[in-house]
Amino acid sequence: LHPRHIIPIDFQSLKHVPESHSWPSSDHGGLVMRSQLLENSDDGASLPVIDLGDPDALILVGRACEEWGMFQVTNHGISSSLLRDVESETRRFFSLPAKEKMKALRSPGDVSGYGVARITPFFEKFMWHEGFTILGSPVEHTRELWPHGYQRFCEVMEVYQKRMKELAERLLVVILKSVGIREECMGWSRFPAARHDGPTPCTALQLNSYPPCPDPARAVGLAAHTDSFLLTVLHQASSIHGLQVLKEGTGWVRVVPVDGALVVNVGDMLHIMSNGRFRNVRHRVVVNQTGHRMSIAYFYGPPIDYQISPVVQDGSSCPGRFRPVTVQEYIEMKAKNLEGAISRISET
Ligand code: SIN
Ligand code: FE2
Repeated sequence: LHPRHIIPIDFQSLKHVPESHSWPSSDHGGLVMRSQLLENSDDGASLPVIDLGDPDALILVGRACEEWGMFQVTNHGISSSLLRDVESETRRFFSLPAKEKMKALRSPGDVSGYGVARITPFFEKFMWHEGFTILGSPVEHTRELWPHGYQRFCEVMEVYQKRMKELAERLLVVILKSVGIREECMGWSRFPAARHDGPTPCTALQLNSYPPCPDPARAVGLAAHTDSFLLTVLHQASSIHGLQVLKEGTGWVRVVPVDGALVVNVGDMLHIMSNGRFRNVRHRVVVNQTGHRMSIAYFYGPPIDYQISPVVQDGSSCPGRFRPVTVQEYIEMKAKNLEGAISRISET
């Protein structure tokens, strides 16, 4: 990977959108991916907001995963003070001068650290985005950055990851129950309860920053993609809009931030395990001229050597639409081919 594919531009110093970040309008783009990016057919259909304490939550969650592959959740048990803390630490990091943030730069071939959007190598243009990926503890990347202040950042991120893991596992139980899948049928022994002696699920925390953009119509915050793992739990910090979701038959729909709610989306692996029943939702991010948008995404997947395959109600294998693939294999496929990974394991 060329270093130019890691180092974000210094957005603060830009008065206009440079060529490197200027995306062609839809009529120029030969690629489906690119033309999809710039059209906007928001028709007001809105994403379900589900109260986890609702007696009907199971049904509502199941339906949302089938129809949208995404929903917002309230009454999720994550305290508003923790959400505020993770937001303010995220802001503290991204507000540093570009030169300082470089101290946390990820190394080529590495996952954790500061850098451009991970899907950048698949596109000709850069996104109006900078990110910080955290696997476990961010100490290594921040000690040098804030010799006297890194502990608070690390503490907050670690606590947040713990709470997110609990929530993701709780949501997964609800989602799978909604289609009649019992925990004991899930494969990775006694999954998904947080059994401390079991294999470790693959998880990561991704901090995203979309600085104000002088010409939002020419820039792309995050190009359309699906997430790879089972579930993503996303906190849209400071309630600044930007996330859009592709709803079949409708087009791109805004995910309007709801105070205190978290966004949950179905990734490729849950799509595979549900034999295509749950949508691996395609989403993207648009930028704006005035607000500095930030978001915090938590990814949750099975252990790295777990074999993903379709599961059904009684635990026996149904005529699967996908051939079995390990988490490791799938991640490697997707790293080579962002759009084609799913079809490579498709049986039809
Ligand atoms: C993502 O898709 O990973 C980020 C979404 C967002 O920033 O809202
Ligand atoms: Fe995503």
